[in-house]
Amino acid sequence: MLNPVLRQRYREDGYLVLPGFKPRHETDALRRRAEQIVEVFDPGAGSGVFTTHRQGADDWFLGSAERVRCFFEEEAFDADGRLRQPKAQSINKIGHALHELDPVFAAFSHGPIWAELAADLGLPQTQLWQSMFIFKQPGIGGEVHWHQDATFLHSEPMTVTGFWVALEDATVDNGCLWVAPGAHRGPLRRRFVRAGDAVRTVTLDDTPWPQGADAVPLEVAAGTLVCFHGLLPHYSAANRSAASRHAYTLHAIDARSRWSSDNWLRRATPPGGF
Ligand code: FE2
Repeated sequence: MLNPVLRQRYREDGYLVLPGFKPRHETDALRRRAEQIVEVFDPGAGSGVFTTHRQGADDWFLGSAERVRCFFEEEAFDADGRLRQPKAQSINKIGHALHELDPVFAAFSHGPIWAELAADLGLPQTQLWQSMFIFKQPGIGGEVHWHQDATFLHSEPMTVTGFWVALEDATVDNGCLWVAPGAHRGPLRRRFVRAGDAVRTVTLDDTPWPQGADAVPLEVAAGTLVCFHGLLPHYSAANRSAASRHAYTLHAIDARSRWSSDNWLRRATPPGGF
C-alpha cells in the first residue's frame, strides 16, 4: 500500500501522515457510536479521572484492558466533586478494547488495508493491544505532555506502533498532535511499569525532550491517518477552542516481538491483529 518513498519517509521521520484514509461516513459513524457509549455510561460506576502525569492508577483503569470504559477529564470536576459541565462534554477518552468489543469500532479497526499498511511499516503479524476514542473536549481538553507511547506500551524488541485517525479537523488551535521528526531514533526515556496492582514511572534515560523548533504541528483534516513509531516523542496542547477534536487511536505490536510482562495492560491471551 505504501510506495518506497513513503516507507523510507516513515523510517527516517518516525511518522507518516496519510490524508483521506477513512471516508467521512465512517468517521462520523464512530463519533456517533462514541456519543451513545457516553450516553449510557453511569458516572457513579467507579470511573476515575484520566491523566498521563499521575503516578497512581485504579481498578477502573487497570481493569479496562479488555473492556470499554469512559474516563473523565482532569478539569471535569469542581472542588466539591461535581461535574462542571454536562457529562457528554466531560469525558477524556473511552478505552481500551473498543476495537474488539464494539461492533462499530471493530468494523472500523479491521481489514486488509490496515494489514497491508502495517506490513509496510514493518509489522507483518499484528497484535492489536489497545484502542482509544479521544475527545479532546472544548475548553477543558487538557494538554498531553511530551511522551513516547513505548513508555506505556512496551515490547521486546520495540515494535509498538500507533495509528491515530483524525475524526474531526485537527488544528494548532484545537490541540493537534505535535511531533519531533526523526527523534524516534533517540532513547526511550521512561517506562510506566506495573507490579501487581501498583504502577509507577521509571526513568531510563534523561535525554531532554525536543525543544520548540524541533516540534512540528500535524494539522490534518478529518479522515487522515497518522502512523507513528512507539519511540517518537509527541504531545498535544490543550484544546482552548470552542470545538472538540475527536480522534481514534490503535496500538499494535508485531507478534514476533514479546509483549513486556510489566506493561500495565495485561491479557490472558494475546489479542488478534488487523
Ligand atoms: Fe501518545
